[in-house]
Amino acid sequence: MSVRHPTRRQVLAGLTGALGIASTQAPKVFATEIGTKRSLAAIAAEKGIKFGASFAVHELNGPRGHDYVQMYLRDARLLTSELGFKLATLRPTADKIDFYDADRLIEFAEKHAMQVRGHTLIWNDALPDWIKQASAADCRELLQSHIETVVTRYSNRVAYWDVVNEPIGPWDNNPGNLRGGPFYAAFGEGYIKRAFDVARRFAPAAMLVLNEAQTETHDDNGATFRDSLLGLLKRLKSEGAPIDAVGIESHLRVGAPHDFPTFAGFLSEIADMGYAIHITELDVNDTGVGGSISERDAKVAALYESYLTEVLKLEAVKVVELWQLSDGTSWMKDPATIAQLGLRNDARPLIYDDAFQKKPAWEAVARALSNAPIRSA
Ligand code: XIL
Repeated sequence: MSVRHPTRRQVLAGLTGALGIASTQAPKVFATEIGTKRSLAAIAAEKGIKFGASFAVHELNGPRGHDYVQMYLRDARLLTSELGFKLATLRPTADKIDFYDADRLIEFAEKHAMQVRGHTLIWNDALPDWIKQASAADCRELLQSHIETVVTRYSNRVAYWDVVNEPIGPWDNNPGNLRGGPFYAAFGEGYIKRAFDVARRFAPAAMLVLNEAQTETHDDNGATFRDSLLGLLKRLKSEGAPIDAVGIESHLRVGAPHDFPTFAGFLSEIADMGYAIHITELDVNDTGVGGSISERDAKVAALYESYLTEVLKLEAVKVVELWQLSDGTSWMKDPATIAQLGLRNDARPLIYDDAFQKKPAWEAVARALSNAPIRSA
């Protein structure tokens, strides 16, 4: 297998690449709130698929908070913390734990009968400086105490934990193409199993997820990520790591090389190992596309539909989550992301526009969910 070593920018720009427990019954309170409006979550639930999106608590008190909330009440039953559970947010300094955003997300979700995905417990990225500079011994202690503290605090209020995020990073030249960083440095490849073991001990009922990016393109980089992830999952399975599901991020890009039937074969290999599959961070980068807004929106919608139609044929895919719901709140509108990924600043990657109006991609997602086979369990 040829391994490329892209720059960080290439890696981020190439993010084209998530999970689920299905309940076929929407909770009563949810059904009441959406009333007679068509709801992606309700369409998905009829198929035994859970539908949701990442959520930003800082939007709640903003001038557009009401519309933002209505969008989620209509379409989502599962919320992922976009920033609130990351180490950079929870542990800004060595002597402080800040649960403010995480608590608000959970309170919002519970008020509206939604579930929560805690994203993420251990990631060799999005780290505060003090962790990057910590000794190996301190990182070993932190992995244990951090997972224990956070998971115990939220107990059964978090249905899914992204226990380890993005473990693959070929550019770091580690065995198995594992991504380097403080936790890898502290434990070697054993950090992943260790994190899942600790999470399972303190969250016996939660679904534990390993989340990975960049698997979706039909090119060398996608192949490297797919092969590396399959190798890692096989090893973790043989070691008895308590992993319930594999998250496939699904940051897609219009114009990237795709072969979704072949990609579905890769997902089947994961399913055959006994893992559920969650689509965790689906969005469509259209910033490399010219043409009118309607032409761009049509391309984005087509990519959502072709991707979801193919992957939802697999019954193992139990959860579909988008990375935000509206263009204006996407990470692709964040100046830091624009600079880091080298994006144009006019991305229209989601299913609602800046004014929270439905785009063609909303109907495309609805069609793909409607056409999915019903999950048997
Ligand atoms: C992103 C957030 O959306 C941004 O706001 C933040 O600046 C960087 O992280 N893969 C992941 C997510 O697993 O945590 C990332 O979220 C997007 C890529």
